[in-house]
Amino acid sequence: MKSLLHRKSLPVGDYRIKFSKFVRVLPRVDGLQITTPLATAMVLLKDQRLFPTLVKLVSACDQKSFQEALPVDLLEHHEDVVSLLLSSGIAGVCDHEGVVDIDKDAVDAGWTPEDLAFHCHTREQMIDVCRDPSPPKPINKQQFPAKHQRIILSTAVLPEPSHNHHNLGFFQVVRERKTIRAYHEQPVTAGVLSDFLWYSMHIREEILCDPGLSRAYSGLLRPVASAGALHSIELYLCIHRCIGLQPGFYHYDSFNHSLGKLSDLGEPCLQMLDLAAASTCRAPQVTSVSPSQGQRPDVLVVMAARYGRHASLHQHTGLSYALILKDVGSIYQQLYLVATALGLAPCGLSFGSSELFEQASGLSGRLECSVGEFMIGNPASTHGFDPGAAVLA
Ligand SMILES: Cc1cc2nc3c(=O)[nH]c(=O)nc-3n(C[C@H](O)[C@H](O)[C@H](O)COP(=O)(O)O)c2cc1C
Repeated sequence: MKSLLHRKSLPVGDYRIKFSKFVRVLPRVDGLQITTPLATAMVLLKDQRLFPTLVKLVSACDQKSFQEALPVDLLEHHEDVVSLLLSSGIAGVCDHEGVVDIDKDAVDAGWTPEDLAFHCHTREQMIDVCRDPSPPKPINKQQFPAKHQRIILSTAVLPEPSHNHHNLGFFQVVRERKTIRAYHEQPVTAGVLSDFLWYSMHIREEILCDPGLSRAYSGLLRPVASAGALHSIELYLCIHRCIGLQPGFYHYDSFNHSLGKLSDLGEPCLQMLDLAAASTCRAPQVTSVSPSQGQRPDVLVVMAARYGRHASLHQHTGLSYALILKDVGSIYQQLYLVATALGLAPCGLSFGSSELFEQASGLSGRLECSVGEFMIGNPASTHGFDPGAAVLA
């Protein structure tokens, strides 16, 4: 029960009741737990004879048909059972369109059950109140080290990062940042790619976080921020074309600033590139389909989260996945700004396939799962790209 649980009595006259659209039924050893993110209480159904009522409440159910689903000895308590369902907030009274009264605002706003559950689960005020009362355990350094190295086929050493990007000041970069989805025929160079990765994600330092506490763990400092300095997001690169680097699928070793080749540009990578291209069919700002529709980027950056590293610190708060997504947002902006400063064409993406990433990386999605995609290339001439300058870079 949350606070503010008020007893609701039966509606007057004819009524139809139904489960909230957001209801979830979870099996427990002692019964079925019924809850919704909006409910003020959770109902634990222990008496198996009541299970048929669950089926009834999936669709709008009038008083008579609800009573028929009750065991005979509970018939006289019919009103109390309905009152309990309504008071808990797992069921409500339906309007003529079948929308349950307690769901109305959420349904009008278009909340999906998944989003609402995720939102409510991760936005409870709980700095001091954790779901799991046991103290957080230290991160298993062997299993989830801060620096992540992969078994690779070969290493591609990246050129030294350049420190001479004084042509654009910071505020100019911020002003000029924009999405560009059209690429020049001249591909990016290994030099520019090296700078892009260095100024976005290279590891500056490994630090001990929460040093005074038993859960002390190693964190990282990078140009981009990360909640808890966990930095559990790794960059993978589908290199389609890049002067100075073989096409293929690479992991960015952000400590050694090198690329570890995992495979050639196989079918899963090509499909990821095609999916990326298909996600850019039209910029929301323009009315017609862009002529650059569907261009494969020179490089597709895939962000993959090591969920276990985050969970080892945040399992007790239940915030792991929410914080991973916030870190992804932070990385998107970093990639946008650095790409703009380097004169690259940046484009964040909304769509990606964990399955294709799993096939390309050869890792179980439970260990590392793709959570974001970003495309870069040299901007088409219409965006002021000078190929001569790029080759020099
Ligand atoms: C998280 C995120 C996802 C995006 N997804 C796509 C996408 O799937 N396809 C696309 O063409 N652009 C995508 N974009 C780019 C936006 O469409 C772009 O930022 C928006 O139109 C504003 O334009 P601007 O970046 O030039 O200011 C995405 C941007 C972000 C930050």
